[in-house]
Amino acid sequence: MKTNPFKFGTVVEEPYFTNRKKEIQKVASVIRSRNHLVLISPRRFGKTSLINKVLNETSRPKIFLDMQLVTNTEDFAAQLLKRVYRIYTFEKLKNYVKNFRIIPGIIINPVTGDVEVTFHPSASSHILLEDVLNLIEKACSSKNRPIVVLDEFQEIYNIGKNLNKYLRSTIQHHKNINYIFSGSQESLMRSIFENKKSPFYHFGEVMLLDKIPEDEFKCYLSSGLRRVTEKHIEISTEILNITRAHPYYTQQLAYTVWELLNCNSGRTNIVGNAVKEVVKHHDMDYERLWLTFNRTDMKTLIGMASSGLAPLSAEFSIKFFTGATSTVYSSIKRLLLPGIVIKTESGYEIDDPFFMKWIIDKREASLD
Ligand SMILES: Nc1ncnc2c1ncn2[C@@H]1O[C@H](COP(=O)(O)OP(=O)(O)OP(=O)(O)O)[C@@H](O)[C@H]1O
Ligand SMILES: [Mg+2]
Repeated sequence: MKTNPFKFGTVVEEPYFTNRKKEIQKVASVIRSRNHLVLISPRRFGKTSLINKVLNETSRPKIFLDMQLVTNTEDFAAQLLKRVYRIYTFEKLKNYVKNFRIIPGIIINPVTGDVEVTFHPSASSHILLEDVLNLIEKACSSKNRPIVVLDEFQEIYNIGKNLNKYLRSTIQHHKNINYIFSGSQESLMRSIFENKKSPFYHFGEVMLLDKIPEDEFKCYLSSGLRRVTEKHIEISTEILNITRAHPYYTQQLAYTVWELLNCNSGRTNIVGNAVKEVVKHHDMDYERLWLTFNRTDMKTLIGMASSGLAPLSAEFSIKFFTGATSTVYSSIKRLLLPGIVIKTESGYEIDDPFFMKWIIDKREASLD
């Protein structure tokens, strides 16, 4: 029984993880230094997989927290402390925790040994957070410095009022911890780390994660497809032409192509059939998503999907908006926020190639 060699959706490790050699080196180099890292990319470009890969290669203590799952400042402190208990012994932490200004509730799961931490909602929730963060700094040794990853960091704005100020005022004093802040909302992340008025202005080295280079991705696809087709190179090229090397969508399409080939469901137009299958599978989601856009944004998306023109070009605005460049500009800005349109090295593009295909198909169908 052959196993599908492609994987999409969750964090990938070997053998599903490919390339990123330069990026691995860069992340590793920042965390060897006394600096912090800010990792930004559109959704599903592989931030978490990259961080995970680098962290797995070091034996240093690490704390990883997805800020999307944090509900408020007390919860932020509790989730961090829970993770501190995974890296240091109870005995070691006892003396520090007993000096906390507000003592947390701690329950040990007798089966898993995992610790559940609760802080009661309090008017001084920042104190809780400060004590926990300072504990991470104090409990470590300068030879075995911890790495704290705050994934989807832009969520800081939704967790607590002025939390960014309090957080920065505490962690700026830490000498032993490397912080990695990663996030997928580029404009928000940039405003946190590049706006002079922001407390986190220039707090870490900003790294923009791009797609995986096509040549590298092609080798990876080709070696996975080799077991089910002789045309592995042509098919890999076709896949990348459609997905424009977006890590997630490339793996998704390669997965579907592999399934079709493995079930012997025809040998012609295999990539086209795989695209059709994915688009069909998401038809209802796309329809729902489509209805959330206003008419201007619909027009922008139709223009981008059907013309291949750069949306901020004069040609685009003349063709679809009778030259109203500012209308296109604000529409792109709106579409960038939820990641429907993304900005990559090659310019603005619709993030999801299957959604793009759905738009084209629907347009054509409605012209019949
Ligand atoms: N180095 C890689 N090699 C191959 N595929 C990758 C790589 N990195 C990411 N992918 C693909 O992209 C998907 C998303 O990866 P990951 O969850 O790490 O991205 P992310 O940027 O953290 O996403 P999100 O914005 O949703 O948090 C993976 O499931 C995998 O299919
Ligand atoms: Mg992630």
